[in-house]
Amino acid sequence: MDSGSIDFIDWDNLGFDVVETRSMYYATCHKKKEWEEGNIIPYGTIELSPAAGVLNYGQGVFEGTKAFRTMKDRVILFRPELNATRMGSSTRRLCIPEIGKDFFLSAIEQTLIDNIDYTPPLGKGSLYIRPIVWGTGPALGVKPVDEYTFIVFVSPVGPYFKDNKKRLNLLVTEDYHRAAPKGIGNAKAIGNYSASLLPLTRAKESGFDDVIFLNASNENMIDEISSANLFVLKGNILKTPHLGGSILPGVTRDSVIKIADKIMNLKVQETDVTIEELLDADEIFCTGTAVVVTSVGNVSFQGEDHMIGIAGERSKAEQLKKILLGIQQEEIEDPFGWITPVSAP
Ligand code: COI
Repeated sequence: MDSGSIDFIDWDNLGFDVVETRSMYYATCHKKKEWEEGNIIPYGTIELSPAAGVLNYGQGVFEGTKAFRTMKDRVILFRPELNATRMGSSTRRLCIPEIGKDFFLSAIEQTLIDNIDYTPPLGKGSLYIRPIVWGTGPALGVKPVDEYTFIVFVSPVGPYFKDNKKRLNLLVTEDYHRAAPKGIGNAKAIGNYSASLLPLTRAKESGFDDVIFLNASNENMIDEISSANLFVLKGNILKTPHLGGSILPGVTRDSVIKIADKIMNLKVQETDVTIEELLDADEIFCTGTAVVVTSVGNVSFQGEDHMIGIAGERSKAEQLKKILLGIQQEEIEDPFGWITPVSAP
């Protein structure tokens, strides 16, 4: 598809916002049978029945991955097979006809290739890839619907948090939970993000960047923030909440665990993380495809601020981020086999 121009993009000032691109991938599944092979269509709005399953009962899941322009002058995808696996489990959990791995990977590759010129220059950001699937068919009673739509769109992005030099100021909320351990917290379900909107909005109104949610079955434990997983460092021990049902199995979470363990010789523990450990940490940071690795400077709990010590290049968060971005931008050797080149050098 050749219409579309990138001339309007200000590569030096990308934020985490929607930039309309040339095209998107579009596929449908009727009567809960197999997915039909989709195709690339012009980027644009879609029509939806007011009775659509997604509008009435939140039957929808999404993914987020990124393509990078690298030092080797090519475009790569970072661990897209993990997004494919998670899309499989999320669709199963939401009773959406399962999106298979190969189908998913082919869809994101087709979308990326048709929009490859929207991938920011090296060091200016990345091309965020958003696969999303939802129930299109009508439902009045609560049930999975008969028809589904799967779209992949992309957007060039810069930092998720506007001032990416500043460490985050987070509020621990005791008023809201994000997800229950036996709910859908471990699926990338759209409803998990709507649950976080009100606490997030209230926190932002009070000057915070995001909200730390506590575990719904044990409020002494932390879960994650609205947009990312959490890590807590004390000495040489790096802890992150284990995948106990309400935690999203983040691709960056997994990558940071492996870099911390194999390259930085930290002792990584996927375990319960208490609020006391959070407040007593040497460092706190969050991880996600969108937020990458972002350090936390302050945590507010029960009206009290807790400043977190180590900042700047000395911090493990900065070192982890440097290695992760180094692998993603092919500045350093990828010892894990995480890179999938998409365009030829
Ligand atoms: C991602 O990191 O890709 C996410 O999906 C978080 C998103 C809600 C911005």
